[in-house]
Amino acid sequence: PRVAILISGRGSNMVALLEAAAHPDYPAEIALVLSNRADAGGLDRARDMGAPAMVVPSRGRTREDFEAELAGVLAAQGIEILALAGFMRVLTPGFVAAWEGRMINIHPSLLPSFPGLDTHARALAGGVRLHGCTVHLVSAGVDEGPILAQAAVPVQMHDTEETLAARVLEQEHRLYPAALAWLAAGRVRVQGGRAYVAAADA
Ligand code: GRF
Repeated sequence: PRVAILISGRGSNMVALLEAAAHPDYPAEIALVLSNRADAGGLDRARDMGAPAMVVPSRGRTREDFEAELAGVLAAQGIEILALAGFMRVLTPGFVAAWEGRMINIHPSLLPSFPGLDTHARALAGGVRLHGCTVHLVSAGVDEGPILAQAAVPVQMHDTEETLAARVLEQEHRLYPAALAWLAAGRVRVQGGRAYVAAADA
């Protein structure tokens, strides 16, 4: 299937997905990288890697207006799956519903702990011993939806927000390509709000 990666920033998860998808056996094609900000660092990185990249600006527009253009681009490009990777614009319930089961997000915490922003600072403030990242199917709430995959890391005594973020990010780059591959290969099932990954066809 043709996948679009939606970004707003530096795009390190996008790079991890592009690198994984460069392997001939990977079950998804990254057909488009799309940013809602013209100044996203990830745009240059995508172009350097030979990926088609474009901007649909969101600033100063209503969500409906922005999403109408976004939907038009995705339809024109024949996109079937959306992977949000540091995409910072909240999507309307209508848009989310249209992509139900076909849109995933990576979030830098072990959901349902710490949805939203500043997850690493909040994990440190909360004194948790384990922190990590989550890939989930996107449903209407922010950082909500059936969980596909998680990776945990220890919180260490001298951690700062930066050192903890770096430890989590390393796991994000490992986890996200694996989770997208499951979805692209048609192996993800949802039942009673929980996601399951079916065995690969023999
Ligand atoms: C990552 O930590 C991701 O989990 C969160 O935003 C950050 C994006 O980083 N949603 P990058 O743009 O992929 O480098």
